[in-house]
Amino acid sequence: MQLSGKTILVTGGTDGIGAQLIRQLRSKGATVIAHGRNADRVAAVRDDGFEVIQADLSTQAGIDAVLAGVMGRRIDALINNAGAGADHDFREGAPDLAAADATIFLNLNAPIHLIAGLMPELKSRGEAMIVNVTSGLAIAPRAGGPVYCATKAALRSYSQALRYQLQGSGIHVLEVLPPVVETKLTAGRGSRKMAPDECARQIVSAMERDADEANIGIVKVLQLVNSISPALARKIMIRF
Ligand SMILES: NC(=O)c1ccc[n+]([C@@H]2O[C@H](COP(=O)([O-])OP(=O)(O)OC[C@H]3O[C@@H](n4cnc5c(N)ncnc54)[C@H](OP(=O)(O)O)[C@@H]3O)[C@@H](O)[C@H]2O)c1
Repeated sequence: MQLSGKTILVTGGTDGIGAQLIRQLRSKGATVIAHGRNADRVAAVRDDGFEVIQADLSTQAGIDAVLAGVMGRRIDALINNAGAGADHDFREGAPDLAAADATIFLNLNAPIHLIAGLMPELKSRGEAMIVNVTSGLAIAPRAGGPVYCATKAALRSYSQALRYQLQGSGIHVLEVLPPVVETKLTAGRGSRKMAPDECARQIVSAMERDADEANIGIVKVLQLVNSISPALARKIMIRF
């Protein structure tokens, strides 16, 4: 997709990978409608000249607020980037089930509802794009985060089926699988993390190439291992 002149809605555009993505998309000539939750970060992104919709996407009201915020607007691309997920580990006591439900809603229900709500507009564009940010953990889970990993595996599966359904519709479906990136999501965890601006750069490049998947950084190696031996990929990832 040629990004210049396009209008792109980016969820979770106020921090981490999304905060880099909105700036890189703007520098390509796109009009960006950002979304975020935290009021201070929303204000900071507004101060930088972006239009921002504030909503908690772990609730139906938040999804409705985002859809209402773009009603009647031209949307050429939807980037489902907002995501989160705490550990859920029975080895460390009873997990927080309310947090698990919120993770499932944010990481899976919200993208599905936003896609459904924007589908008529995206179809009307002739050329459009849906970008779903999953994770390398969609390929094989790590032991401590089964709910997060399950949501990403589910969104990966959803994206693959959606891509097939939308063949010939003019709507391209891109799945992005980031590695461990230096953001608040991975604070205190992981090493040799990718910088968020480099992750965003590779997402933008994949959009420009109309790629089906953006396997970023070490995720390329994980995909290779998984194609040879899914059992080995699972064995490597489970300890992360
Ligand atoms: N970082 C990694 O290593 C990594 C690896 C693989 C995949 N990913 C995926 O990449 C995407 C971006 O993650 P990130 O690392 O950039 O995380 P991040 O720095 O924590 O940023 C996440 C963004 O999502 C928003 N968000 C979080 N919970 C929300 C909620 N309940 N409602 C609405 N918005 C919410 C945040 O808004 P506020 O914080 O402003 O409220 C923020 O703008 C996520 O889908 C994540 O799963 C990340």
